[in-house]
Amino acid sequence: MCGIIGYTGHREALPILLGGLSALEYRGYDSAGVALVGDGICTVKRKGRISALREALATVELPTACCGIGHTRWATHGAPSDGNAHPHGTARLALVHNGIIENDGEIEAFLRQRGCDFVSETDTERAALLIDRFYGESGGDPVAAIFSAVAMLRGAYAFGVVFADFPERIYAIRQDNPLIVATTAQGSLIASDIPALLAYTKEYYRPDDGVLAELTPRGVRFLDAAGNTVTPRSERVDFDVTAAQKGGFPHFMLKEIYEEPVALCRTVRHYLGADGLPRFEENGLDASFFSRFARVHIVACGTAMHAGLIGRYVLEKLAHLPAFVEIASEFYCREPLLHSDDLVILLSQSGETADTLAALRYAKKKGVSTLAIVNVVGSSVAREADAVLYTPAGPEIAVASTKAYSVQCALLHLLAVRFALCRGQLTKEEARRICDTLVEQMPQRVEQVLARAKQIERCAGMLQSAEHLFYIGRGVDFSLCTEGSLKLKEISYIHSEAYAAGELKHGTISLIEQGTPVVAVVTADHLAEKMLSAIREVRARGARVLLIVTEEIAARLALPCDDMIRLPAADVLCAPFTAATVLQLLAYHVAAGKGLDVDKPRNLAKSVTVE
Ligand code: AGP
Repeated sequence: MCGIIGYTGHREALPILLGGLSALEYRGYDSAGVALVGDGICTVKRKGRISALREALATVELPTACCGIGHTRWATHGAPSDGNAHPHGTARLALVHNGIIENDGEIEAFLRQRGCDFVSETDTERAALLIDRFYGESGGDPVAAIFSAVAMLRGAYAFGVVFADFPERIYAIRQDNPLIVATTAQGSLIASDIPALLAYTKEYYRPDDGVLAELTPRGVRFLDAAGNTVTPRSERVDFDVTAAQKGGFPHFMLKEIYEEPVALCRTVRHYLGADGLPRFEENGLDASFFSRFARVHIVACGTAMHAGLIGRYVLEKLAHLPAFVEIASEFYCREPLLHSDDLVILLSQSGETADTLAALRYAKKKGVSTLAIVNVVGSSVAREADAVLYTPAGPEIAVASTKAYSVQCALLHLLAVRFALCRGQLTKEEARRICDTLVEQMPQRVEQVLARAKQIERCAGMLQSAEHLFYIGRGVDFSLCTEGSLKLKEISYIHSEAYAAGELKHGTISLIEQGTPVVAVVTADHLAEKMLSAIREVRARGARVLLIVTEEIAARLALPCDDMIRLPAADVLCAPFTAATVLQLLAYHVAAGKGLDVDKPRNLAKSVTVE
């Protein structure tokens, strides 16, 4: 949801800014811009991708500058246009912003009363002009100007600001939005996320909300609002620049799907003790934690919420622990009743999703225990929750989440086993057998699915020209369908709906007509006969059925279909993982076959940092 980058140092800034913007383009891609500081500030910005900005830059005479800021935008206030693109500012300063200023109307009125006029529709321009106003009033003090301005702002933001009077400095401050700062021998940088820094360093600082970073080529100092110097803890990533590159794959999404077997194995191994059972003591979760709760609420958005549906299934099945799944934005708006023996689990790949963060804060306000399951180390959700478990999936760049979903499901299985042991629902032997399957067999079976990619690509042809289609399943298969359907919608722009197979006949079956594709997922053996009825019902009305089914069920029961993808024979525990990978590949090949920009679907952004 917008990417910001800034560099001040001994090298030419522009190539570093453009490289950083390319690494951050997954965060938003409807316009991009840079401001270079030398003899004054030179700003160039364009509607469209970074390639459009590069073309624009080639047509203007640019100063050689060693300091600058850049931005890639996901529009909130005002349509994607050259005028609304960032940076915004005046002759004295330029500002890039990620987030939303909620009281921009008030700020605009304040500034209009003082004679200001605006050239864009953005909240960012209002913030830039506010800083400029205080800069003038303070006699040219950037620190005083920024602190005075942010004291008037409500909302979420990460800012990078440069001043013409201080051509070597960048100022950066954040509130509820990601921002990291790094210093290297070549200079100092700010960025919205780690991939933009990986070419220069693996170490960085994540300043707290309201802490101002002042960067120079020689280093950085951090100041709180009272003017005291503070020192944020330095953090380090354990992956390198190749992890954030395509590595020969045509798209990040495909690469990330192919990384699933390794990511799954790494995740399960990471949380298994020497006795082959899940261990969370190092994360502060001991036996007393797992025996404390009567209910679990899994709260998340989009794909992470769909992983929560799989988590609900295993928590109830293995641990007999009542579990509820809720869309984060509804959770805090609905204000559910929470009890002291409830646990709220926040699931998030990025750990920066504003809705998930708001839900976390709601739960904390209600005094219930919170546990974050997050992929990005040190992210806001991870830092604010009472406890955190990281999913070691590695960086996920494609907007459509794939491997992060799969490892979230794996970690939720391990949590369910741990709860089950504490609640006396599994013996150690039973638990060990489940964990063995998860660490040995399950990643191998996902690998086998990948080996069948050609067949999945062929089946994708059946969906490519559809305008509408359905995914149907029962029980855990319905949960899988919700994610399969979302994946298809977000990258192929084909309207699809996931339906509980039993519910279709209560109304929606009226939408089935000659040729409507229906993807039927059948991995739950005890529900296979009921799925047979649902498949017959839709076929009788002209649907073309693509069946995703386990080898075992296919061998036992002749399910009618127009095409079929068999999931490799395996322990029943593996089926949600193999089916998920099939559904991801199916969506990928439909979108790629249509020639769409799979990694950067229209209107979306990877990390949704606005409510
Ligand atoms: C995934 O394909 C989606 N782009 C989206 O639904 C995403 O899962 C959701 O925004 C939550 O993100 P998070 O996991 O980073 O919190």
